[in-house]
Amino acid sequence: SPSDPDLVERARAAKEKLGDKVFVLGHHYQRDEVIQFADVTGDSFKLARDAAARPEAEYIVFCGVHFMAESADILTSDDQKVVLPDLAAGCSMADMATAEQVAECWDVLTEAGIAEQVVPVSYMNSSADIKAFTGKHGGTICTSSNAKRALDWAFEQGEKVLFLPDQHLGRNTAVRDMGMSLEDCVVYNPHKPNGGLTAEELRAAKMILWRGHCSVHGRFSLDSVDDVRRRIPGVNVLVHPECKHEVVAAADYVGSTEYIIKTLEAAPAGSKWAIGTELNLVRRLANRFAPEGKEIVFLDKTVCFCSTMNRIDLPHLVWALESLAEGNLVNRIEVDKETEAFAKLALERMLALP
Ligand code: 13P
Ligand code: SF4
Repeated sequence: SPSDPDLVERARAAKEKLGDKVFVLGHHYQRDEVIQFADVTGDSFKLARDAAARPEAEYIVFCGVHFMAESADILTSDDQKVVLPDLAAGCSMADMATAEQVAECWDVLTEAGIAEQVVPVSYMNSSADIKAFTGKHGGTICTSSNAKRALDWAFEQGEKVLFLPDQHLGRNTAVRDMGMSLEDCVVYNPHKPNGGLTAEELRAAKMILWRGHCSVHGRFSLDSVDDVRRRIPGVNVLVHPECKHEVVAAADYVGSTEYIIKTLEAAPAGSKWAIGTELNLVRRLANRFAPEGKEIVFLDKTVCFCSTMNRIDLPHLVWALESLAEGNLVNRIEVDKETEAFAKLALERMLALP
């Protein structure tokens, strides 16, 4: 069982044996049983920086999902090895934009005569191939904590943005933070000819949003916001920007996982909060802040864990650490050199954002 004291002891022993050779990163959505072994925790932006700041670690064990491990590999040196304890820990949103689909989209934009005005901005939650496409076409990566700065930058480079792959983060940032209207945004559907858009629609748009979404955050609804306000008078609604626009518009606060934590740390005793993000994090925060008299509930009880984040469990972490301690490099995530060079360009543009 995950709480098996024997597994806890084995993880501790393997980590101790590896010493400074290993550095364990944990995303905020990871299980408690895994997070207890993380050397640092963070949102995807912080973890990308933290990975790059550990040149002495031979192994970076990434407790998170595949695109995060790829980004860590891109940002670390060639002799550092990034390990993902379960290779099946992907991200359904990242899988919604493939290299072929995005290349086809670029052809559509070229046909419409607008490709030269378009700057791609890709959410961190994308494959290394999509990051490479972004770098190649003069664009940048963003995360939920710097999406506005990335869009500000992009609109200095060009007149239009192709935002990949999360339509919600793209729309929410454009409308909520940049003063654009919903009419400035169109949605490109990779499953339809020409993305389901006419050349006129493409020419009129400022934001071309890829039709991707998070299967977890996409399930929070306006009803869940209305319900919780009715149930808990005075509640503050705090959601991740991967939620739908109507949910974000009805919320009191919106931000990345790191922002959510900071906001709750600063909240006064006696305050009440409904949080719309992944359940592992919400539960951990509810337990952490209950003794301080802060009441924290999950925005919608019917929404589940992120199943791919949850694939990294203590048995997988123990297996990865013990293998490394025995000299067996398992589950390495390695991006090929050409992809890496262009993806790195896009990631470095993000890291250089003001
Ligand atoms: P953060 O960048 O806020 O950590 O979000 C990552 C993620 O996968 C959200 O679903
Ligand atoms: Fe991907 Fe959503 Fe899971 Fe984040 S919560 S890793 S966006 S599926």
